[in-house]
Amino acid sequence: MTNLPSREDKASDSTPYYTLAEGRPVADPTASTILRGTHGSLRGGLSLLEDTQLIETLAHFSRERIPERVVHAKAAGAWGEFEVTHDISDITSCDFLTGIGKKTPLLARVSTVAGEKGSADTARDIRGFAVKFFTEEGNQDFVMNDLPVFFIRDPIKFPSVNRSHKKHPQTNVPDWTMYWDYHNNNQEGTHAIMQVFGGRGVPATLRNVNAYGVHTYKLGKPEDGSFKYVKWHFKPDQGNKTLTQEEAVKLAGEDPDHHVRDMFNSIAAGNFPSWTMNIQVMDPADASRVPYDIFDDTKIWPHKDYPLRPIGKMTFNRNPSNFFQDIEQAAFSPSNMVPGIGPSADIMLQARMFSYPDAARYRVGPNYQQLPCNAARSKVYSPYQRDGPGRIDGNYGGDPDYVRSSFRKIKNIHPTDVSFNEWQGKVETYSSEVTDADFVQCRELWKLFKEEKNDEEFIHNVSGTLSQAVKLVQNKAIEVFNKVDTEIGDRIREKLEGVDLKDVDPNHLWVPQS
Ligand code: HEM
Repeated sequence: MTNLPSREDKASDSTPYYTLAEGRPVADPTASTILRGTHGSLRGGLSLLEDTQLIETLAHFSRERIPERVVHAKAAGAWGEFEVTHDISDITSCDFLTGIGKKTPLLARVSTVAGEKGSADTARDIRGFAVKFFTEEGNQDFVMNDLPVFFIRDPIKFPSVNRSHKKHPQTNVPDWTMYWDYHNNNQEGTHAIMQVFGGRGVPATLRNVNAYGVHTYKLGKPEDGSFKYVKWHFKPDQGNKTLTQEEAVKLAGEDPDHHVRDMFNSIAAGNFPSWTMNIQVMDPADASRVPYDIFDDTKIWPHKDYPLRPIGKMTFNRNPSNFFQDIEQAAFSPSNMVPGIGPSADIMLQARMFSYPDAARYRVGPNYQQLPCNAARSKVYSPYQRDGPGRIDGNYGGDPDYVRSSFRKIKNIHPTDVSFNEWQGKVETYSSEVTDADFVQCRELWKLFKEEKNDEEFIHNVSGTLSQAVKLVQNKAIEVFNKVDTEIGDRIREKLEGVDLKDVDPNHLWVPQS
């Protein structure tokens, strides 16, 4: 007796029949092959090296994880489409933004930052919002956050700020002493911290988050080198909705996957979330006139001076068919820019342009750009990038693998990119020294909190976490907030009265918490 399908069965039946990964049909996927024991046992026996099915099953299982992203590990993802709704041809000839009605397919991933892949969705944290537009001139990635400013302005601090938000190196649990200690001593992040602890620190759903490019970018016309500075803003057509701290904590316990589930179910039900893509536009001549540094990502451009200009609508309309294949292996990078879009002199952005492809080569492998979730839909001819594990695209056959070959000519079809400024200067250490200028926009934000009656929520959220930090750190945080407004410091101090924590020996590695 054999369970193998006949030729006729194979041809007519669409039900899959089980095979090994190399195609050999197998009788029973649920049973090992054994050498039966000699004591009459029905169960005992020896496993065999010739049981290829058992060996492949176990060996593949041990290798089925790739490293989770070192930040932004937990996420929802979706496929979608972008459509141009407004004409911006006065400032750019960028192809996918030109021509009302023009559509571009896209892949998106919306994440938390600090938590691991299994962490709760409703943590107080920044949300990442990465979108890959598969344009006719290559991939354009927007790798954004849901808050308009960031914690640091020198990229060398990126690992530090993230570690302080993750788990303590000794106790392996998140640690508010470590968190606030980092921010007390790196005060350029106060503006971002105020955003995280304000009303917008936890979104109601991922369909309700804003997405900001954060850095200044260039948008222009490669054919004549003209450009404007822009900031990207994606606004949810569903409205920006948030959760209180108490709602968020409750949900984190009841349904840690609340946001991911909501995104999947909405799309599955045909309730497609959408966002309006806007830009703030600044003439390069203004860059030296405005009272803030446009290359400092801890600063915003006030909307009254630089109002939003709409460009188009982005819609998420299809769930991933398989999360690992479509979303876990996706690799986004701010270095993926199409003609017409260029980086500015923000050193954070410049460093990010290195860091993401570097992470992808480690996390997914050097040929990650060939996977369907990452591969450009436009023509790709990049024959000087060859070989490597997992090559699946033909590897350019016999085409020359060296530049300037006489045997296969290539042409350059695009004029030079949006021009860079000319630079002259001396090499020096970057200064992220914090001055009063760093608190000006924080004061504006505090005023807004009060106008919108979110001030008590902010004080409540800060105090709730500071109450779990040691006194030394609490006091320093109050000093920092006093630089914004002494009312903030006073109100936090009042909330912390009566919270009696052990103080800490600053040389002690482990900080006991009540
Ligand atoms: C993810 C580096 C700042 C948004 C990541 C990853 C790295 C990284 C290494 C993991 C990538 C992967 O494994 O595929 C950095 C560095 C920064 C920085 C070095 C500063 C110097 C920012 C800023 C934003 C941002 C300012 C927002 C404007 C994101 C997003 C993801 C991410 C959305 C998740 C991408 C995805 O869904 O795959 N970052 N980052 N990052 N980062 Fe950053």
